Amino acid sequence: MTEATATISPSVDLFAEIARLKQELDAVILAHYYQEPDIQDIADHVGDSLALAQAARKASGRTIVFCGVHFMAETAKILNPDKLVLLPDLAAGCSLADQCPAPEFERFVRAHPGHTVITYINSSAGVKALSDVICTSSNAERIIRQIPDDRPIIFAPDQQLGRYLIAKTGRGMVLWPGACSVHVAFSERRLLRLKAEHPEALVLAHPECEEPVLRLADHIGSTSSILKYAVESPAKTFIVVTEVGIIHQMKKAAPGKTFIPAPPDSGCSCNECPFMRLNTLEKVYLCMRDRRPEITMDEELRQRCLVPLRRMLEMS
Ligand code: 13P
Ligand code: SF4
Repeated sequence: MTEATATISPSVDLFAEIARLKQELDAVILAHYYQEPDIQDIADHVGDSLALAQAARKASGRTIVFCGVHFMAETAKILNPDKLVLLPDLAAGCSLADQCPAPEFERFVRAHPGHTVITYINSSAGVKALSDVICTSSNAERIIRQIPDDRPIIFAPDQQLGRYLIAKTGRGMVLWPGACSVHVAFSERRLLRLKAEHPEALVLAHPECEEPVLRLADHIGSTSSILKYAVESPAKTFIVVTEVGIIHQMKKAAPGKTFIPAPPDSGCSCNECPFMRLNTLEKVYLCMRDRRPEITMDEELRQRCLVPLRRMLEMS
């Protein structure tokens, strides 16, 4: 039993209490597809990074309970300075965001004068503040295509997504050398073996994966795009090369189909984001009960982040 769950009486019905606290806090619960199934099931909106930023922008109540990682909750706070924004576990960070510290990124941007800085939403507020426009895996291609041809581009911090977008758009970009530890762990060798075992299966992959893995994919896209493709495709079996949490929504939306999680290289069958999985139903309840951990932000920094974030929402 963890310290946090030790404070919850076993008689507490977490589902009923979360529903009651939702009314009390005038809250909306937002959950990413990479959250555990119970959290997805109690959320008002389950979505990818873009859909959740859009839902945060539209939120009308006093409180946002963000079941995702820190940069997502921070984005919700940037858009809603007057709301209480709660993150069930403040330690829910992101390996990709961590690989791009703002002071180093500032030096990188300064070394490339005249470049338009397109930054993936998986980044800290300090990095967003140095950017011209934010993007997610859903809208990155659309945003790049809107930048005038004569403007050189810096794309940060995910080099895998950056490389994929260079190939897709034909647009050269200077890449920051970051990567998501979860998506680069998928193994080409083990995926090939899985494809041989299931020749009828289509491979669905997130663009944060490495190039040799993406080469094996029948469809590459954001989590929402992968979900939509799986539901609409006439195929019945899919190998899913992204965080395994998405399979919960896939099974709900297409109960007759088979979804096989792709294996990472380690030999471990788990392919969960360790940061996303720090959130639990117990911690969702506790953050609502205790009104913390709360996301707070320096107002000057928030204003600087708002500009590229609003630009993204307008360009999406
Ligand atoms: P999307 O939500 O844009 O699919 O990105 C996945 C991801 O890694 C979020 O951290
Ligand atoms: Fe960050 Fe990767 Fe986890 Fe997404 S899956 S939150 S990019 S570590």
